[in-house]
Amino acid sequence: MNVVVIGSGYVGLVTGCCLAEAGNNVVCVDHDVKKVNALTGGTLPFYEPELEAILDEQIQGGRLTFTTSIRHAMGKANVVFLAVGTPPNSDGSANLHNLLDCAKTLGQAIPDDCVVVVKSTVPVGTCERIRRILNNATEIGRHTQRISIASNPEFLAEGRAVQDFRDPDRIVIGADDPHAFSVLSDLYAPFNLDGNRLILMDIRSAEFAKYACNSMLAARISMINELSGLAGALSADINAICRVLKGDARIGGSYLHPGVGYGGSCLPKDLSALIDLAQTVDEPADMLRSIQKVNLDQRERLFHAIRTHFNDKLRGKTIGVWGLSFKPGTDDVRAAPSLSLISSLVQAGAIVRAYDPVAEHAAQKALGDMQVHYSPCAMDVCANADALAVMTEWEEFGHPDFKEVAHQMRGNMIFDARGLYQSETLQRYGLEHYVLGQNKFGRVKMNVAQNNQRTWKQWFARQEGGEAAHSNLRKIVP
Ligand SMILES: NC(=O)c1ccc[n+]([C@@H]2O[C@H](COP(=O)([O-])OP(=O)(O)OC[C@H]3O[C@@H](n4cnc5c(N)ncnc54)[C@H](O)[C@@H]3O)[C@@H](O)[C@H]2O)c1
Repeated sequence: MNVVVIGSGYVGLVTGCCLAEAGNNVVCVDHDVKKVNALTGGTLPFYEPELEAILDEQIQGGRLTFTTSIRHAMGKANVVFLAVGTPPNSDGSANLHNLLDCAKTLGQAIPDDCVVVVKSTVPVGTCERIRRILNNATEIGRHTQRISIASNPEFLAEGRAVQDFRDPDRIVIGADDPHAFSVLSDLYAPFNLDGNRLILMDIRSAEFAKYACNSMLAARISMINELSGLAGALSADINAICRVLKGDARIGGSYLHPGVGYGGSCLPKDLSALIDLAQTVDEPADMLRSIQKVNLDQRERLFHAIRTHFNDKLRGKTIGVWGLSFKPGTDDVRAAPSLSLISSLVQAGAIVRAYDPVAEHAAQKALGDMQVHYSPCAMDVCANADALAVMTEWEEFGHPDFKEVAHQMRGNMIFDARGLYQSETLQRYGLEHYVLGQNKFGRVKMNVAQNNQRTWKQWFARQEGGEAAHSNLRKIVP
């Protein structure tokens, strides 16, 4: 098939590469000229395992090309995917500006029988809006045929995106005409490995399904974090409790690891967008709000613990930070807990030394001119550090040389924001271990983050817009 993918970010590029690999002719579009030039030359603009090899192979094979022009790309397209970003507005709602802009251009270039597929995560009703835009544009243009539109939300996870696309748990297609179902079922046939991955439904349900999944994942993370805090306060062992939870088949084992909470480009913004959507239909969405609050509180707890450890005197203290990306396997730092911690530390006068295997550049861009010393390796971060905060569970942080860590550090406190280590192991090297929720100074009356949810959303929106984050983050430092 001839496929066009508009938006060459984490989702669009993986979609384009994997569909080309399956034998389709794919044109990827992006309005970022630098990105298109880099991709044409076979260079990935971000880190994603396995993707560069496919990119290279498909460009060489002539099945994958890049352009900045939607009109130029469309030609005889059978399917066009919209995969541009839908970042949060300052009120938490999804910003559809780029998506709707693309639809306007698309309307004047769309060939007969082409199926328009919305892959971006969008509020319920967005496909209907896009259909109206396309219908208006095509009537002014060449013909008045009914536009075939589908919602096909993406469930890939950064860091394992290629694997997820090639071997998806499920492929959701929401449409209201047989042509769209038939074209997309054919396109996805090579990925529908055992024939039962396709879930067909109406458009609005498909749009909602993506928000439902992310809300459920976020709920598990916030629930285990709340339980962890409670367990710590009651002197119970959350790790033992987790084993009990995971052993219950009704509960299942994933997303039950206490830590500093979720970040990234999806969970925070999708929760905000769904809360906003709930407001439009007068639904309270109390749980969604609590999930969000608990998540923000986790970040506050960590900073509070570090501050308390230094008796509120962070000025001049050197704090090492291991891990900048919001999770391992990616260089994505959008809404990463590491960035809010670094901003709070710098604001409090601390000297921050940071290291990440792949995300240094992305963090530098997001933090703007904030004073952070980026280290070439993990051990360099520890040199004369008064404390070390481990923010991302990269494999290389799992079993470090603790003897050397202790030797390099001036202080001895390890703030383990991902629950990676055993306290007894660290004690053998004279290191102290802080795990969120489990130590006394992690417990704090959480009234600060509650008042700052709006500020946080504003920060996130600005970061998405590429503005320096730190000026806004100052406001969330108590
Ligand atoms: N990243 C994920 O893990 C993930 C997973 C599932 C769903 N999603 C959803 O997929 C969508 C895309 O996410 P992403 O992470 O790939 O975003 P991204 O920011 O990595 O990529 C978006 C791309 O779209 C391009 N773009 C924006 N406006 C454009 C326009 N008018 N014309 C052409 N190109 C334009 C940008 O330059 C950018 O390259 C979002 O709605 C997101 O919520 C993301």
